[in-house]
Amino acid sequence: MAVTSTLRIGGSRLRRLRRSEALRTLVRETELSPRDFIYPLFVVHGRGVHEEIASMPGCYHMSCDVLAAEVREVAALGIPGVILFGLPAHKDEVGSEAYARDGIVQQALRAVKDAAPDILAIADTCLCEYTSHGHCGVLRGQEVDNDATLELLARAAVSQAEAGADVIAPSDMMDGHVAAIRAALDESAQQHVPILSYAAKYASAFYGPFREAADSTPAFGDRRGYQMDPPNVREALREIEQDISEGADAIMVKPALAYLDVLARARQRFDHPLAAYNVSGEYAMVKAAARNGWLDERRVALEILTAIKRAGADMILTYHAKDAARWLQAR
Ligand code: PBG
Repeated sequence: MAVTSTLRIGGSRLRRLRRSEALRTLVRETELSPRDFIYPLFVVHGRGVHEEIASMPGCYHMSCDVLAAEVREVAALGIPGVILFGLPAHKDEVGSEAYARDGIVQQALRAVKDAAPDILAIADTCLCEYTSHGHCGVLRGQEVDNDATLELLARAAVSQAEAGADVIAPSDMMDGHVAAIRAALDESAQQHVPILSYAAKYASAFYGPFREAADSTPAFGDRRGYQMDPPNVREALREIEQDISEGADAIMVKPALAYLDVLARARQRFDHPLAAYNVSGEYAMVKAAARNGWLDERRVALEILTAIKRAGADMILTYHAKDAARWLQAR
């Protein structure tokens, strides 16, 4: 006797809708697109610089002249935005180049807007790449002074907006940063510039490769005094709530992969546009395993990005953006 006749599977044979690619396409709940991506770029002084970053294969330090071709390529791939990180010529105690009129990111912003006016130029606003001690704010003794830092972040945001930044993205994790930046932008006739706040940013070891790329490793201590403690999720919701109440237009959870629960909770609780940062360590792990032949890079990267979107992200900052856009077009 046929076994199935005795089974009570009834109407629910979930495999029925998995039998062909056409069926799977029809019932797919999450669709990844190049339009979901924001591509991070690392800008350096000089001319003709295009050097691969050792800890992040496929990512480069680029000078402003090289940036033009790069952002045209990004735009042609259908990726709507880039986020810029700068390596300054000089670092000092107060991160002066972060808010210098001719700072590296200010120059890069002008170059991006010249080369591809329609692409969104997002400015990461923080001091860590610019301070001699590598912390995200100014120090008082061995501690980062929250309120003294706010003033400098506000200056950095205004100078970035004046250089053409379409979006300001503060990643410093100081309390009150969104309010301080919003007020400064408004006073400088930059009311139209939105703030994408790195609202729930964890003190994560997954930033390792980035710190080599951005030369921003703290000279002493770590960032646990201002970035979030990884075990906490309710606190992340309070961080997000706080940034929204201060005027954030969009919010971010960072890192992404080990924090999909945070992303999903944020998606449920808040209606603001939600970004996720698929950070350097997440990228580097995939690259390293793929180079060893242990993983299929394309399938793993697309699976990770799809999972981040499924968890609730409207936009994904990812070093895989260009490759993923090509893979998606080829599909
Ligand atoms: C700057 C900043 C960091 C990242 C984005 N902005 C580093 C940090 O907080 O140490 C990390 C990005 C990545 O790892 O890809 N504050």
